Amino acid sequence: MQEKWWQRSVVYQIYPRSFMDSNGDGIGDLNGIRQRLPYLKDLGIDVIWLSPIYKSPNVDNGYDISDYQAIMEEFGTMEDFDRLLEEAHAMKIRIILDLVVNHSSDQHQWFQESRKSIQNPYRDYYIWRDPVNGHAPNNQGSCVGGSAWTLDETTGQFYMHLFDRRQPDLNWDNPVLRDEVYRMMDWWLQKGIDGFRMDVISLISKDQSFPDYPADKTGYAPFDIVANGPHEHEYLREMNHKVLSRYDVMTVGECPGVTLEGTKQYANLDGSELSMVFSFEHMSVDADPAFSRYVKKLPLNLVKLKKIMSRWQTQLDGIAWNSLFWDNHDQPRIVSRWGDDSERYHDLSAKMLATCLHMMQGTPYIFEGEELGMTNYPWKNLSEMKDNESLGNYRQAVEKGIVDEKDAFTALRTISRDNARTPMQWDEGKNAGFSSGTPWMPVNPNYVRYNAKDEQEDADSVYHYYQKLIQLRHDSDLIVHGHYQLLDQENPDLFCYEREWNGEKLLVICNFTKKEISWNLPEEFDHAGILISNYKDSNVEKIINLRPYEALVLQ
Ligand code: GLC
Ligand code: CA
Repeated sequence: MQEKWWQRSVVYQIYPRSFMDSNGDGIGDLNGIRQRLPYLKDLGIDVIWLSPIYKSPNVDNGYDISDYQAIMEEFGTMEDFDRLLEEAHAMKIRIILDLVVNHSSDQHQWFQESRKSIQNPYRDYYIWRDPVNGHAPNNQGSCVGGSAWTLDETTGQFYMHLFDRRQPDLNWDNPVLRDEVYRMMDWWLQKGIDGFRMDVISLISKDQSFPDYPADKTGYAPFDIVANGPHEHEYLREMNHKVLSRYDVMTVGECPGVTLEGTKQYANLDGSELSMVFSFEHMSVDADPAFSRYVKKLPLNLVKLKKIMSRWQTQLDGIAWNSLFWDNHDQPRIVSRWGDDSERYHDLSAKMLATCLHMMQGTPYIFEGEELGMTNYPWKNLSEMKDNESLGNYRQAVEKGIVDEKDAFTALRTISRDNARTPMQWDEGKNAGFSSGTPWMPVNPNYVRYNAKDEQEDADSVYHYYQKLIQLRHDSDLIVHGHYQLLDQENPDLFCYEREWNGEKLLVICNFTKKEISWNLPEEFDHAGILISNYKDSNVEKIINLRPYEALVLQ
């Protein structure tokens, strides 16, 4: 099979609100991104994924769109966007946009019309149901807590929203709506964008008989219980046929609730649906299934993590394509989560985690600031936090007495989505160089230590390590295509695996702890060279004595 450009690419995710503010209003914007393109070029990434930049009342920072073909005023104008695209392309950087079409904003003209009357031509763009015995049609819960149904007084019917009530779900069973979405996608592709990241795309097809589902402790069914619905693949194939197949683009579907088997369809190498998906199985190893992830966090179980990631690596090989990520705008910072963000181990553990991920098969994603080892924020109290979803789940669990308030806050601090959304740390100047005004989110005080400018000047920084990992992928068929095999599966401290391609082999050894650990080198690597490591003086003996958070790649 011929290699696709996105199989050798590294994607960089920008959360525009927090990336770079060009006009001092405290909010990142498109011209800010333009200013920082040379930085991204230097890092070496191939593709930028922009989180939503469309017109939005910002209930969910742009994931609630009121006009799919207009730019959010705070971010700039359509001309700014066109210039950004042009300048990026001139630097050989591609841009993909966030496609948020499971739901729109309630301020979207479609919904404004839809709610007016049952006969309105836009009524069926959304999902409306009569009350059942005076209640919501079923026990479906929303992602932000509470029911997924809200009663609209005007017509006395409920509408469905798997997220906030101001994010009504679009009705994908309506072919008119689907064509409307395809037209809009086509409009952007005609502009020359290079693809889409598709927001919660695994949720678009619902079983519209709306049965009651098994409820969790909150009394509601989890929001993603409806994932991979009855017409899911049919709609994606239709979208592919009508739109995507006519362009040379990449697509990545965000797929809560996706299974490995399902991914063989979603991300099949035959190109019939999407290029790849984001699955979350590996991100759930520190969640307790009985609780919302925002109110309870378990320590990392490395054996479990290894098993999950290895299953995806081996079982998709040659069938479908993986995406590789630790961080995004919905996750806490990986160095704080599974590494050690104390001064002593910060750089080592950030580099180790990067090695472990970037040597796998799939397309790696870097979330802004991850390449600097940006950390979680030192939250002191609830009032500093902003994210609707994290707070909604926290409040619901506390109100229902499911968790103790203090314990829940301890978890929330470490897992809240707000951790990902503090401003990018550019330099040691005012507001970390992000804005000359007051940033919409507080800047992490550790910007004095971790910022782009200092790290670009320091050859030994986390930044330069990422730069090298990206370069290695670009240069190596083995890293792009090699078959994967997990070694020493039950080892609770080390993540070791091999890659093999055309008789060449790579060995990746990662110490996930601050302990010193010795490990027997497989014989065939006796004379191997070091491709990359996070200690300067690593030496390879028959028995390797690994130091805290040491990462070694041998070829
Ligand atoms: C996705 C986005 C998240 C958003 C949600 C609703 O999970 O990544 O940020 O809140 O969808 O659009
Ligand atoms: Ca701004």
